[in-house]
Amino acid sequence: MVTVNNAELINKILSLRREKKAVILAHNYQLGEVQNIADFVGDSLELSQIAAESKAEVIVFCGVHFMAETASILCPDKTVLLPEASAGCPMADMVTAEELREKKRELPQAAVVCYVNSTAEVKAESDVCCTSANAVAVVSSLDSEQILFVPDQYLGHYISTRVKKQFFFWPGFCPTHARILPEYILRLKEEYPRARVVVHPECRPEVINLADEVLSTGGMCRYARRKDVAQVIVGTEIGMIYRLKKENPAKQFIPASEQAICPDMKLITLEKILRSLETMAPEVRVPEDIRLKAKSAVGRMLEVV
Ligand code: 13P
Ligand code: SF4
Repeated sequence: MVTVNNAELINKILSLRREKKAVILAHNYQLGEVQNIADFVGDSLELSQIAAESKAEVIVFCGVHFMAETASILCPDKTVLLPEASAGCPMADMVTAEELREKKRELPQAAVVCYVNSTAEVKAESDVCCTSANAVAVVSSLDSEQILFVPDQYLGHYISTRVKKQFFFWPGFCPTHARILPEYILRLKEEYPRARVVVHPECRPEVINLADEVLSTGGMCRYARRKDVAQVIVGTEIGMIYRLKKENPAKQFIPASEQAICPDMKLITLEKILRSLETMAPEVRVPEDIRLKAKSAVGRMLEVV
């Protein structure tokens, strides 16, 4: 619901957005009020593609740090704002560039594939990047028979069930998706026997094994629009439910777990977006030497999709 206070905030944001020639991008896990004022709402891949093609001078990235960094890697001429500087991704912090360099020395034959949920420094050490939407296609496109996949062991494991190569997994994981347990899905399947089960590839393998579809958040939005889909058990971060319901009011979406909340994704509010546009801060900018190396990994990914 738009309250009087919110309406005032929204008007100020929209007028500053025009004045600063800004575009507001929001990830599918953002708060409903943030999704509602965004120019585009999407998954990591969609948002990075939109950032790359945007004519705007300023990108207000309503998401987490690695997403704003990816926009900065692709758009060095634009000002990229992350309205809450501390919004990070714990999984992205589970591998450092130094640790990765050490592992590369142990596995010199392996192609290094990094999930986009990683720091710019880690991307700079990788051969190619991927998102949950294109991970299988990206790994399939590589000549190398050995793959070092960082940092998400569960996404890595999922790809290894689809692509025949030798994989080395980094022990990272998403704490939010790890909270979704197979017993929750089994219980909901009993309660809603006709529901489809759709899960994110960051889920545990035992959860993925129970799913009808394994999709990125953007893939979930497309799946939910299908005429033959009426009731869905959704195995991902809880914010996803807002967009699914908004776009498909006649359908039923059941969260696999009410506890699957990414606290970092909830840090951005309308007040912080307004402050960010007023002060043009906090800005995310990747140092040029790192950016150029990271751009090659992100660019290779965008060539595949
Ligand atoms: P998507 O690219 O599927 O939106 O996933 C991003 C993410 O952080 C999931 O936790
Ligand atoms: Fe990172 Fe998980 Fe949050 Fe996505 S949901 S941003 S992977 S912690």
